Amino acid sequence: MASDSDTFRKQQEMSDAVKADLAEHPGAYTMLTGDRPTGRLHLGHYFGTIIERVRLQNEGVKTNIVIADYQVITDRDTTEHIHDNVLNMVIDYLACGMDPARTMIFTHSSVPALNQLMLPFLSLVSEAELLRNPTVKAEQEASGHALTGLLLTYPVHQACDILFCKGNIVPVGRDQLPHIEQTRQIARRFNERYAKVFPEPVGLLTESVLLPGLDGRKMSKSYGNAISLCATEEETAKLIKKAQTDSDRTITFDPESRPGVSGLLTTAAVTTGRTEQDIAAEIGDAGAGALKAYVTESVNAYLAPVRERRRALERDIPFIEEVLAQGNELANEVAQSTLDEVREAMGMVY
Ligand code: TRP
Repeated sequence: MASDSDTFRKQQEMSDAVKADLAEHPGAYTMLTGDRPTGRLHLGHYFGTIIERVRLQNEGVKTNIVIADYQVITDRDTTEHIHDNVLNMVIDYLACGMDPARTMIFTHSSVPALNQLMLPFLSLVSEAELLRNPTVKAEQEASGHALTGLLLTYPVHQACDILFCKGNIVPVGRDQLPHIEQTRQIARRFNERYAKVFPEPVGLLTESVLLPGLDGRKMSKSYGNAISLCATEEETAKLIKKAQTDSDRTITFDPESRPGVSGLLTTAAVTTGRTEQDIAAEIGDAGAGALKAYVTESVNAYLAPVRERRRALERDIPFIEEVLAQGNELANEVAQSTLDEVREAMGMVY
């Protein structure tokens, strides 16, 4: 059996090969990725994945985004605010440059045929394979809940997301690679057992920055260290003002021993295109107050056009609903056609 590091090396090679080919043959690629609608998108999402999606869309790759509403209940007991979160997610996407004419945006729960792939796919994985997925384990521990059947099997559901539209590339961070491996396995096993219906998707390892939160920890709404794209300039200023720094007045970039100051420097760096060191040297002895003023100004200037588009879109909710309705309609057509192929391959056409 291949070791994890072998698997990883192979995945890295495949990712590199796709990257080399992408610019020349964008039309040969179908991307699928998605987000859980649990809150507003923040700067971490923006620099971590949204920019990359917009780039792929603009290069001519077929781009698909699932708003993963069924994944919200993998580790939560409520769907409170889900409707509002979903609409705001569409608003965030469009404000960031996703174009509904080129990118299919849809919700899990609106596409029955996608969800139906779950049945044959579940038959292609073993209990042991499900139980050893490290991402599932980590999420279960973080949730403090018992392991639900849905949390245990969501990587299979994610395979349905990717494969219903025959996605062959999935932009991912390294932590998501086990999911991609599971999807590849499902595709391979289905194709071997029945007929070749599915591609074996490749995880595109993105070089995007992992933007830390304002305190240097992982950026997360629940830590209060995330700047939402939809925050006002004043809210942004307030959040940055509250960020914890340290007593050393001289500003230096040192993520290990100065996480707060360094998180602020990285935020300023990504939003200005400068380096952290350069910004630190400029601020020097002026201290954390001056650094925070600079970060606030940089973030607000960077996000100004996104926020302006956002405000315009917010005023036209019927348009947002229409974008989603059309994405869902198209996703249903695609899913139905794939499910027809699956039934055919399995001899289940009656
Ligand atoms: N799990 C992803 C998240 O938590 C969202 C997601 C759902 C996804 N289906 C997917 C990502 C398929 C990539 C491929 O944000």
